[in-house]
Amino acid sequence: MNQIYNFSPGPARLDPSIISKSQEGIANFQNTGLSILEIGHRSKDFETLINSLNNNMTNIFNIPSDYFTLLLQGGATYQNTFIANNFDKENKLMGCLVTGTWGKYTADDFSKIRDTKIIDVRQDEIENYVLKPWEIDDIDFLHLTSNETINGIQLREFNKINHGSLLIDMSSDIGSYSFEWDNLAYIYAGAQKNMGIPGVSICIGDKQYLNSENNSKYLNLGQLVEKNSLLNTPPTFSIYILKLVTDWMIQMGGVKYFEEKSIRQSSRLYEQLNSYKDFLILPICDYSKSRSNIIFKFENNELEKKFLMEAGEKGIIGLNGHRSEGGVRISLYNSITDEMVDYLSEFIDQFFVNNGK
Ligand SMILES: Cc1ncc(COP(=O)(O)O)c(C=O)c1O
Repeated sequence: MNQIYNFSPGPARLDPSIISKSQEGIANFQNTGLSILEIGHRSKDFETLINSLNNNMTNIFNIPSDYFTLLLQGGATYQNTFIANNFDKENKLMGCLVTGTWGKYTADDFSKIRDTKIIDVRQDEIENYVLKPWEIDDIDFLHLTSNETINGIQLREFNKINHGSLLIDMSSDIGSYSFEWDNLAYIYAGAQKNMGIPGVSICIGDKQYLNSENNSKYLNLGQLVEKNSLLNTPPTFSIYILKLVTDWMIQMGGVKYFEEKSIRQSSRLYEQLNSYKDFLILPICDYSKSRSNIIFKFENNELEKKFLMEAGEKGIIGLNGHRSEGGVRISLYNSITDEMVDYLSEFIDQFFVNNGK
């Protein structure tokens, strides 16, 4: 079998060490004589696993002691319903800063559930996102998507945003740079890009927002946190993989390591792609261009199809842009190695040599 270079936007590549460790856990979870696939979520062994996962997350993200950690199902999409039904739904005004497709979906869902003010800046000069005096004084919570996976737009400097209670969808860049918690009320991310496989979302928030609503069980933020993510049967295998990923992240050097890698790999590819700008459209300005998802289009549509086809023939997969946008997307998540980027980069150069550069 040819080697595969998986640059998919998610579910995404896992480090091979995680796949082999998970095989051990499937065969015999920590010498219990049971597979992780059949272990009870109320067992001592699973409780130990959740506790050490929580410790790992505190370590990786430097979570303050007055913040909770919660693991939920339903993906990032469920969060649109979950968040909208919490955070003092009856009294507080929600705001949505929309910089791309996922933020727009959130804004649409929030609006169906509660009072929501939408600040749609998709047509604006992207440089000005964090500098702009948006009208957000009246908003109690401001939602944003730190990395728009489809559109290749990223905001990382949250403390430059002049609002004290941010709610952030970090699904496609969690764990790839460090940030301060000062003005963050709640962050969340589906695990399947930087931190594992589908089935579990990581949620971390300020404890002051617990218990504000009398919601039914799976919408009840306070109860879910009180039960330490075990209010009902959790996605045990996805949680197990998340635990293995957090072990691996710590062993690699934590967020600092992944941040450096992400800067190194993305700037190298952006620079290379810029050198072909006679052939390519790179639509995102320097300030907002994503380190996690590099998007571009070819001026010539036929050349783009050829590029994607030949990449596939070389074992480079996952480069097709989202079906709504077309074009090319290179996803550089935490598991992507420098060797993979070398291989991709050589392929790109060779493609332009062969096609008239
Ligand atoms: C930034 C972002 N938010 C939300 C979603 C939706 O995630 P899910 O499929 O886990 O609901 C995605 C999926 O790719 C995403 O990239």
